[in-house]
Amino acid sequence: MKACNNLIIVILAAGKGKRMLSSTPKVMHKILDKPMIHYVLKEAYKLNPAKVYVVTGFGHEELEKYLNENYPMSIPVFQEEQLGTGHAVNMVKKYYDNTWEEVMILPGDSPLVKSKTLEDMYINQKGRLNAKDGSHRENFSCTLVSSIIENPYGYGRIVKNKNDEVIKIVEERDASSEEKKIAEVNSSIYCFKAGVLFDYLKNLKPDNSQKEFYLTDIIEEMIKDKHRVSTFKAKDMLEVSGVNDRLALSNAAKIMQRRINEELMLSSGVSMTDPELVYVGDDVIISKDVIVHPNTYIFGKSEIGKGCTIGPSAQLYDCKIGKNTSINSAVLIEAKLGENNIIGPFSYIRPGTITDDKVKIGGFCEVKKSKVGKNSKIPHLTYIGDTEMGQNVNIGASSVTCNYDGYAKNKTVIGNDVFIGSDTMLVPPVEIGNGAIVAAGSVITENVPDDSLAIVRGRQVNIEGGATKYRAKKEIEKNKGANK
Ligand code: UD1
Ligand code: MG
Repeated sequence: MKACNNLIIVILAAGKGKRMLSSTPKVMHKILDKPMIHYVLKEAYKLNPAKVYVVTGFGHEELEKYLNENYPMSIPVFQEEQLGTGHAVNMVKKYYDNTWEEVMILPGDSPLVKSKTLEDMYINQKGRLNAKDGSHRENFSCTLVSSIIENPYGYGRIVKNKNDEVIKIVEERDASSEEKKIAEVNSSIYCFKAGVLFDYLKNLKPDNSQKEFYLTDIIEEMIKDKHRVSTFKAKDMLEVSGVNDRLALSNAAKIMQRRINEELMLSSGVSMTDPELVYVGDDVIISKDVIVHPNTYIFGKSEIGKGCTIGPSAQLYDCKIGKNTSINSAVLIEAKLGENNIIGPFSYIRPGTITDDKVKIGGFCEVKKSKVGKNSKIPHLTYIGDTEMGQNVNIGASSVTCNYDGYAKNKTVIGNDVFIGSDTMLVPPVEIGNGAIVAAGSVITENVPDDSLAIVRGRQVNIEGGATKYRAKKEIEKNKGANK
């Protein structure tokens, strides 16, 4: 939507969310890899509003930190005591000036809302939606998004007259048994004329069973004074359903997961063998012809190149993966992999790892903060940390770069075309020259020059008949024991 210079968005996020039974503020509970409020903010910003205010309260430090790091253009407004949704909106009044035309209010606990619904509501509020003859109708004083739902329990009900005009909103706790039967519910998403909103909030009273200042109560007062209030039905009720407990949180997460996966499959050409078991964050970029297998999590700012195979059972956080790489049963964090890599099964790739093309990191291998050159292989049971490795290197099974001496991390440098025999300990700081070979079982504490063979182990001694003698001795001991 083009910039709406006079539109202000207020997101209500101060509530404790008692029904979550948690010490984390409700809107900071996660859906996939992001707190619930991220999804609301993201859709809100698509409208290009002049400003976005977020009302914070319970656990405000945690929420404000998140806003500061992720949405620094949003403005947190502290509501010290959570005295109700009307009281929460009134917190932003101190910023109100005559540039504000419309105030859109969004609950921070409705993460499934889509910007299209908000845009349509805004257009409706401006009176253009029904102006079939093209004439400009008078604005509404308020447009609120409602929804017809099968089980309206817990929601505010929209009470209407015979002409389908709103009379008031009544909350579950204050509703009569007749009113409880109403299936049209309040989504808590509204667009108000700014002046009208603050005028009516001034006189709001906590006349209800919870003794809270309900934003919903101003609707009845406005209608009594002949203000025009319009209800705008959301096409998809899921979009406006609020998350008030952990069951609703898990349902919302499932819907978000489906939305993201469907988009990837239908618009990005990504295959998923079982999308119900694939979890992708909404900042992730996946190129076409990628296949994602079950039990896979791709989160953070990850990017997956064309033709990769990810999973089964892969976890990627903030990783960049080159084309045609395959990752099976592995955990990767803040790593950048080249093209045609083969990772896993059972590999752990930690932050700062950068691989070139055609690298293999195999079973039970851990790589941390290391560079691995083109065509190099770390196939089995190995730890590589704080290492710079050249091209065409082969690391034998069970080898370790002993990067930590108990006090500091030290660096290992391995040149090109190096062969490290199995069970080698490289004790850094140490450098292995180009074309060098390190014999299996060596503990390398000194640099190895180019093309040298390094071997550090005791010479082998074969005692002829020694095994036979040993067994005979053991048999005698065993028989003595049995005769006791
Ligand atoms: C609210 C609506 C209800 C609607 C439902 C839709 C009211 C009185 N009721 O009920 O009509 O059907 O949403 O989901 O508005 N908040 C604050 N400060 C407060 C109180 C609440 O910031 O003092 C925030 C909460 O953090 C939450 C939002 O406002 O994000 C809504 O509050 P909540 O307690 O969830 O209201 P509901 O009972 O869901
Ligand atoms: Mg709610």
